[in-house]
Amino acid sequence: MPLLNLTDVTVSYGQTPVLFNVDMAVEKGEIACILGRNGVGKTTLLRSVIGLNKVMSGSIVFDADEITKTPTYLRARYGISFIPQGREIIPYLSVLDNLKLGMTAAKNKPKKISEEIFEFFPMLKQHLKRQGGLLSGGQQQQLAIARGLLSNPKIMLLDEPTEGIQPSIVQEIEETLKRINREKGITVVVVEQKIDFARQLAQKFFIMEKGSVVANGHTADLTDALVHKYLAV
Ligand SMILES: Nc1ncnc2c1ncn2[C@@H]1O[C@H](COP(=O)(O)OP(=O)(O)OP(=O)(O)O)[C@@H](O)[C@H]1O
Ligand SMILES: [Mg+2]
Repeated sequence: MPLLNLTDVTVSYGQTPVLFNVDMAVEKGEIACILGRNGVGKTTLLRSVIGLNKVMSGSIVFDADEITKTPTYLRARYGISFIPQGREIIPYLSVLDNLKLGMTAAKNKPKKISEEIFEFFPMLKQHLKRQGGLLSGGQQQQLAIARGLLSNPKIMLLDEPTEGIQPSIVQEIEETLKRINREKGITVVVVEQKIDFARQLAQKFFIMEKGSVVANGHTADLTDALVHKYLAV
């Protein structure tokens, strides 16, 4: 059984339907990417999985539990972590306090930040007292991922983690996500616009167009023809 399984999911903003009959199955332990041009519904899809958008019809099953109508805070406790587009760290709080926010979402709330987090993100240890808003974009993204990891998730959903980030840090983020996946066995779903990043990071892909998944498979089979048809601008 897939770790995350969406069946026939439809989501609207008010009267306007945005997702149509979305089917998506993510297996435990894999890295999957969601691709698609601007405005096709990628963010809406992730927000629906964590419960920030209401599902009109269809079902979402996570780790054998039906969660379609489960409140967001409980989905976080079940082990779903969401790292939103634009990162949304709290700019006036210190790096340390931003990290602590991540722990509040966990089921068994840890008392202190485990040293392990700094093995994945050594940079953060040097900046613990700094205001989050003073970090560079890439550092803020790493802070957001670290915060997500501190909720002790089974799956991490990341919305365009490389958006507006310099190439050297993009490379670092790719390596860190692979390590988190490999060493902690955490399943990763990442929305991406950078095709090369997605190809290198993920084993599976889903392409969205106009609110539906129109193609999916192994990233080895993500052909230039598919990229041209659905992803090229
Ligand atoms: N809060 C909202 N209210 C109404 N419509 C919205 C809202 N948020 C998004 N939409 C619309 O829903 C559709 C899907 O938006 P969504 O943000 O999910 O797309 P996306 O694929 O993440 O786009 P991008 O690549 O720009 O991040 C778009 O047509 C958008 O205009
Ligand atoms: Mg988006």
